[in-house]
Amino acid sequence: MSFGLGHGRTLDDAPGVVGVTAAELPPLPDDVGLKPESGRVDVTRWFPEPARPLEIEIGSGKGSFLLDHASACPGINLLGIEWAREFYLYSADRVRRRGLKNVRMLRADGADFLRWRLADGVVSVVHLYYSDPWPKTKHHKNRVVQDRFLQEALRVLRPGGELRLVTDHPGLWEWYEEHLARWCVPGRFERREFVPPDWTDDDEVVGTNYERKTRAAGREPRSAVLVKPGGAP
Ligand SMILES: C[S@@+](CC[C@H](N)C(=O)[O-])C[C@H]1O[C@@H](n2cnc3c(N)ncnc32)[C@H](O)[C@@H]1O
Repeated sequence: MSFGLGHGRTLDDAPGVVGVTAAELPPLPDDVGLKPESGRVDVTRWFPEPARPLEIEIGSGKGSFLLDHASACPGINLLGIEWAREFYLYSADRVRRRGLKNVRMLRADGADFLRWRLADGVVSVVHLYYSDPWPKTKHHKNRVVQDRFLQEALRVLRPGGELRLVTDHPGLWEWYEEHLARWCVPGRFERREFVPPDWTDDDEVVGTNYERKTRAAGREPRSAVLVKPGGAP
């Protein structure tokens, strides 16, 4: 099963009601390239309390961050985007079993989703943790962070909204620094220090599955927060 299912059926075999349904995310119109706004959806309606701040995690893996963050922050709506089917299904089932109503899961490319599906200024926080490093030069184009992605992140974030980045991969961090040099400038983002969530252990930065699995290897996580200007002081 996949896209094009009837009303209420879920995309890619998503269990329960956690996975975003085909009715909630119709196919992109053929002319979306000419009219980018024609593909946009009101993501807030995917949640029982649409007025809450919307946060998105791109590449949610096995979903531990989603569970811990949504439990600690019941006043937000949190959308986990994961393109690997196995991880997507695993996380959706974990959210369902935990009974979290403020978390939905989408199987998609997170960068494409920002570009084609989100309206301007609707997201409070984009979380991107331990993103795949794609170490070979010929694969750098597959990295989530690109100039285009940062342009779209700036567009979809509300004033004062944040893009939060953590990685322990030296080559990917170097890539981030190169991009941040272009994007953390007046009129674009303001760069701030990443603050670990309250619920993390003392030796954790953000407490994802990947971080918990690899911290014994002694790699040094690097982090940054990109803030869209214009938020309330
Ligand atoms: C190294 S894992 C880290 C997972 C999780 N953030 C953590 O720290 O445990 C990277 C994850 O991002 C997913 N991913 C990579 N690129 C993606 C994209 N463009 N859109 C959605 N998911 C993506 C991969 O399938 C994988 O599950």
